[in-house]
Amino acid sequence: MRAWRAAILRFADDGHAVYDADGLLVVGPDAHGRQVVRAVGPYQALARNYEGVAVEHLPGHIIAPGFIDLHIHFPQIDVIGSPAAGLLPWLENYTFPHESRFSDDAYSNELAVFFIDELLRHGVTSVLAFATSHPASVNALMGQAQQRGMRLIAGKVLQDRHSPDGVRDETQQSLIDTESLIQRWHGQDRLGYAITPRFAPSSTHAQLQGAGALAAKYPDVWIQSHVAENLDEVRWVRELFPQSRSYLSVYEDFGLMRGRAIYAHCIHFDDDDRALMRSTGAAAAVSPTSNLFLGSGFFDYEGAQRIGFKHGLASDVGGGTSFSPFHTMLAAYYVGREGQTKPGVSLSPQNLWWQHTAGAAQALGLEGVIGNLQPGCEADFIVLDPKATPLLARKTSQAGSLDELLFSLIVLGDDRVVTRAHIAGSM
Ligand code: GUN
Ligand code: ZN
Repeated sequence: MRAWRAAILRFADDGHAVYDADGLLVVGPDAHGRQVVRAVGPYQALARNYEGVAVEHLPGHIIAPGFIDLHIHFPQIDVIGSPAAGLLPWLENYTFPHESRFSDDAYSNELAVFFIDELLRHGVTSVLAFATSHPASVNALMGQAQQRGMRLIAGKVLQDRHSPDGVRDETQQSLIDTESLIQRWHGQDRLGYAITPRFAPSSTHAQLQGAGALAAKYPDVWIQSHVAENLDEVRWVRELFPQSRSYLSVYEDFGLMRGRAIYAHCIHFDDDDRALMRSTGAAAAVSPTSNLFLGSGFFDYEGAQRIGFKHGLASDVGGGTSFSPFHTMLAAYYVGREGQTKPGVSLSPQNLWWQHTAGAAQALGLEGVIGNLQPGCEADFIVLDPKATPLLARKTSQAGSLDELLFSLIVLGDDRVVTRAHIAGSM
């Protein structure tokens, strides 16, 4: 066993933060050999029970759960900051040409290393990621995550129509490749597979049907896609799938709505869509920096809270502008304030942080496994320096409450705050 002494942030089951200003985190193997939190709480109360255990003391630092990014595109690192009139021209002019490069194994491997380095530098210890349509891109990312002992979920993109040469796949082969990748990677160490139709317009009915059949055959595999992000996209889906009630219903009609199904954006929804999210147990990956950058719209937090469906935060890099969970949480705060037709909501700093950790884990069906530091959770944690910049040092030293401290970090923080990330599997 090993232990760390510092301030410690974690979450109670109701989503509220628990904060020990002088805490102890004890990590060791469970019955299956996984490195988990064995004990956590105030140092004074716990230390005497762990006298033989080596303790690293980190005065002035905060230990927090590693962040979880619910939706990110591994092959879009170099697409960040590509301006376009909206989603569809952005895909055509920047994203598809860039993703076509991932047919090359060496290129995929090089970018996988960079991608995971960048995640950890920003304090992100788990992601649900899109690869590209090329199986090589999945193998590169999974292989790299496995080497680092990370809990990562990813999938090969399915896109057999309305996609250019270089990224378009072929219906039958794409489903054969998906099943082979599930068998190769799902449940290996800490890895998981996600069936990944890019979005309804770029899959034929046959491909969506095949994806739904695989989802039925592998009930604990994840599903990820995009939905109701952009108004031109919504109109296009209505033309392509006139028989479905709404864009979201297309996925329901093909058997792609259930727990462990994560849909990015979920902006242009009505209450029937929200009720469908709730009744099926699907979750939204709210991607505010992407939605602001591409001019897609604003996630309706009031509607999500009123109807009550699962949601958590995501960068959506490369539509999103930053790997930093601090930037994403701040953008989510702005979006919450923005009521389009009614007053917005003021998301609390504890709730914003929860949406990127324990709440994101709940969206993935991994509550109690990642995204928290309660006993039994896998020990993915980060060490934060609340004095990382002169302004942060001034501001956080004046914090009179946990909310003030967390808000200072959300508003002023970035990768400079993250001094290191510990991955359970690599300790
Ligand atoms: N819809 C279909 N593909 C994509 C993508 O790569 N990024 C975003 N933001 N939306 C999409
Ligand atoms: Zn996306």
